[in-house]
Amino acid sequence: MAQAVRIGIAGLGTVGQGVVSIIQQHSALLAARHAPIEIAAVSMRDRSKARKVSLEGIRIEDDALALADASDVDIVLELIGGEDGIARQLVERSIAQGKHVVTANKALIAHHGDALVAHAETQGVVLAFEAAVAGGIPILSTLRHGTCANQISRISGILNGTCNFILTTMEQEGRDFDDVLNEAEALGYLEADPALDIDGIDTAHKVAILAALAFGTRLDYAGVDCEGIRNVTLRDMHYAAEFGYRIKLLGMASFDGRYLHQSVRPTLVPLSAPLAGVSGAFNAVQLHGDAVGDVTLEGRGAGAGPTASAVLADVMAIARGERPQPFGMAVGALIQADRSAGALQKSAYYLRLNVRDEPGVLAEITRIFANEHISVRAITQHEIMPDNTVQVVVSTHHTDDTSMRAAMSALSALPVNANPPICLGISEGE
Ligand code: NAP
Ligand code: HSE
Repeated sequence: MAQAVRIGIAGLGTVGQGVVSIIQQHSALLAARHAPIEIAAVSMRDRSKARKVSLEGIRIEDDALALADASDVDIVLELIGGEDGIARQLVERSIAQGKHVVTANKALIAHHGDALVAHAETQGVVLAFEAAVAGGIPILSTLRHGTCANQISRISGILNGTCNFILTTMEQEGRDFDDVLNEAEALGYLEADPALDIDGIDTAHKVAILAALAFGTRLDYAGVDCEGIRNVTLRDMHYAAEFGYRIKLLGMASFDGRYLHQSVRPTLVPLSAPLAGVSGAFNAVQLHGDAVGDVTLEGRGAGAGPTASAVLADVMAIARGERPQPFGMAVGALIQADRSAGALQKSAYYLRLNVRDEPGVLAEITRIFANEHISVRAITQHEIMPDNTVQVVVSTHHTDDTSMRAAMSALSALPVNANPPICLGISEGE
């Protein structure tokens, strides 16, 4: 049997405990598949906190950085989180000390992945982060291995388990946003700061990582056009269903050899499309390669088991002696893409306005669309509400992002608005 691989785990929350639990349950299986995995040491913020796993016989370090220096640790697992602070220090120090690092931290990779991977290359160690994107779905290794002979032009999908869980549960159970958010937290799906999930930032981190790996372009997290699900209401879900759609938070990246377009936005997906059927905390990733065509992977995108499964896939790969390049090529070979301009990005749109019921309001709204050369596909005024306002729902034909932003700015300035208008993309393909 191969020599035991010794790991140090920093962070014993949802993911860290998930890793300990799998190692304890499957020790014989892991040993048979390559080598025994030994937990040499762990570190957490508060050692008095109750844990769901036994830490008997495992050394506890009060300072997580001690794992980077420990002579009995071969691979450091950074499972704390955060784009800077202790997580970044630990990864940098572990690499500097010649240790392999496995992390689930998409914020850290999206912000600092280029520099960290370059450092790891210099040190001859691996920095692996399969768990950072789409939980248990092996999308990074698929891009690195399974589809590596393709020119990939587009990658998209449902990349945040929390948001998909919230949208699905609100729609299926008619429950309100805050109630469902609390349930997502109890299930271990949420980031430490829930705004990262709800405002689309976590999805944007994942889009940036996917784009770099899929297209061979440099990480450009700042270039992701990002909007979350805060403004999506049960009413929008209901109207979307009337049109034959379901609302999903979609992350998308496309590259035409020059322009890179990356976005995160709540989008109406046709009920007949595969992504419409992806529910709860499940994620799905779709890519288009020139040789393979369309590929879709679906699975659990958040929570202890799926994420720990991906973390241990990286640990086992390193234990087997694999030395994968995190972005599928040397970091210095990644190309700098131009950010796509709004005029190049086209989509159909859904808009909902809540306006006072007065003569001429519909004419005002349609005049704004005409001024921006936006072609309206359908417009519906719903029944008058007790506060004497009406909901006006508009769908458009394909239009460019710049025109739609100008229209939204003019619509938002209308004095008849009872509430700010909302605008969501409409997808036909997925
Ligand atoms: P979590 O439940 O909040 O756990 C974070 C852990 O970090 C806690 O155990 C905490 O200790 C520990 N910690 C905080 N500061 C520390 C310090 N200075 N030194 C040592 N330990 C410290 O977070 P999580 O959900 O497991 O997420 C961990 C990482 O995985 C994040 O990067 C997250 O984005 C990523 N991720 C999470 C999921 C998921 O479904 N949860 C999925 C994919 C990726 P205490 O327990 O003592 O407070
Ligand atoms: N908070 C993240 C999500 C965890 O809900 O998808 C998995 O990355």
